Amino acid sequence: MKKTYTITAALPYTNGPIHIGHLAGVYIPADIFSRFMRLTGNDVAYICGSDEHGVPITIKAKKEGLTPKDIVDRYHSNIKKSFEDFGISFDNYSRTSSELHHKTASDFFLHLHDNNFFKEITTEQFYDINANQFLPDRFIVGTCPKCNYEKSYGDQCEKCGTSHNAIDLIDPKSSITGNLPSLKETKHWYLKLDEFQSFLEDWILKKHKSDWKANVFGQCKSWLDDGLKPRAVTRDLDWGVSVPLNDSDGKVLYVWFDAPIGYISSTKEWATNNNLDWEKYWKNTDTELIHFIGKDNIVFHCIIFPAMLKAHGEYILPKNVPANEFLNLEGAKISTSNNWAVWLPDYLKEFPNKQDALRYVLTVNAPENKDNDFTWKDFQARNNNELVAIYGNFINRVVVLTNKYYDGVVPEPTELNKEDLHVLQKVNASVQLINKHVEKFKFRESCNEYINIARHGNKYLADQEPWKIFKTDPKKVNNIIFVSLQVSSILAIIGEPFLPFASNKLKRILNHNDHNVKWKWGNLLAGDLLIKPGIRINQAELLFTKVEDSEIEFQLEKLRKNKN
Ligand code: 2FM
Ligand code: ZN
Repeated sequence: MKKTYTITAALPYTNGPIHIGHLAGVYIPADIFSRFMRLTGNDVAYICGSDEHGVPITIKAKKEGLTPKDIVDRYHSNIKKSFEDFGISFDNYSRTSSELHHKTASDFFLHLHDNNFFKEITTEQFYDINANQFLPDRFIVGTCPKCNYEKSYGDQCEKCGTSHNAIDLIDPKSSITGNLPSLKETKHWYLKLDEFQSFLEDWILKKHKSDWKANVFGQCKSWLDDGLKPRAVTRDLDWGVSVPLNDSDGKVLYVWFDAPIGYISSTKEWATNNNLDWEKYWKNTDTELIHFIGKDNIVFHCIIFPAMLKAHGEYILPKNVPANEFLNLEGAKISTSNNWAVWLPDYLKEFPNKQDALRYVLTVNAPENKDNDFTWKDFQARNNNELVAIYGNFINRVVVLTNKYYDGVVPEPTELNKEDLHVLQKVNASVQLINKHVEKFKFRESCNEYINIARHGNKYLADQEPWKIFKTDPKKVNNIIFVSLQVSSILAIIGEPFLPFASNKLKRILNHNDHNVKWKWGNLLAGDLLIKPGIRINQAELLFTKVEDSEIEFQLEKLRKNKN
């Protein structure tokens, strides 16, 4: 049955380009899921946008002598282009500095304010007398009281992951001037998160124990077991969504209050541009809301944002939040400050037209249940031994043989034999499995199963050896080529979520349009034959090309230089 999906991918901070960790953790899995759900006939809104507020953006602007707006304008375009280049098929990519977002977030805040979900609390907070400003979140650096890491931020320690209050840091310093900060009183609005404790326990611990991933469920349980406390949702900053109240000069909404509302404003923008009803995607109880995020975002998407949505009263809650763990690079944590990363714009320059190779490797090696490592050698091996040697080789042989024996016209099959039917059955079983895995957010397994289809095809062709019997048993060869073309067409259709570039190329090679094929999921599942005898296909083109040793050495050398 056709369903409506609102699929969100974490809004990236707009203070740097996107790297492979972002793609593997969030945007590729969300893209596979969205493309798959569209392919299977569902109504999908795949939503994202730039997260343009928050302290790191302000810090970067100060460092470069620019305004935060200069910084977000630069990276918004850069990030948006990377997503387009890698075939991330957002229905809408917006930005939280937009007027529509500011209004949506302000209205949301006011709605909660008017319904008494906030508490005003005055506390002493760090203040830099020289910089003449408060020092929220990352504006303070000090030693983590839990793990003794010396560069912990005011809100969270990046080393041990603990959230804390800035005043608990040992030896705190202003990250603007390096000075010892003083304390000054300030008033903020706190979301009464404690009032949602029992609702969240019931919703997560009872209802989602079995369908949420263990890592997600575990983090939620630990937050709930610690007991939820009121949480400040405003900050003393001059960059962000202004607090829409009278006595709130110099205060903005906390970035983690406004950013998830960005999913809603991005949906509104998309709906307005396409003459659609945005509320269907956020308020209809039949709609499935799925948040794709990295593990550092779990508490915000599973506890705080759901509490905000529940408090508002009109919104649906996420059905699932399939958060991934982290991707490491060559055995070390990806780090922007140490330039230990593979940046997408660089990758594209150095491997032009190899977007699918990266999508593939990041999918089969995704950090789905534990942190995982990306290595260039593995990238090369998977590209050369799987995409080129299995998938590419199979397609190339089928297309070359069709052109050679039949002048490119799909041959008419006669009665299919045991082997022909067997390969079709195996392929159909793989299609069913892919379906099951994707529905359960198991993208590694689904992509492996996808390559299995090419393996089945390759083995079938190698076992049947049509090139040896073309003269002696032409009828059998008709069947072999016909069946191989069926398998190729299945690869073209079902490969679209995983390898969209290769898939489109293959559809062109197979002349998909002229075949008037029912390239529909239902037909695939039913095992219907897709490609028609008597129709001409096109000449062979390579779907994938090899990655050479020298290219890998170049990448490793680049990383080695960064290490020194
Ligand atoms: O961790 C991050 O990169 C955040 N910018 C994610 C925000 S997700 C959402 F809530 F907008
Ligand atoms: Zn720590």
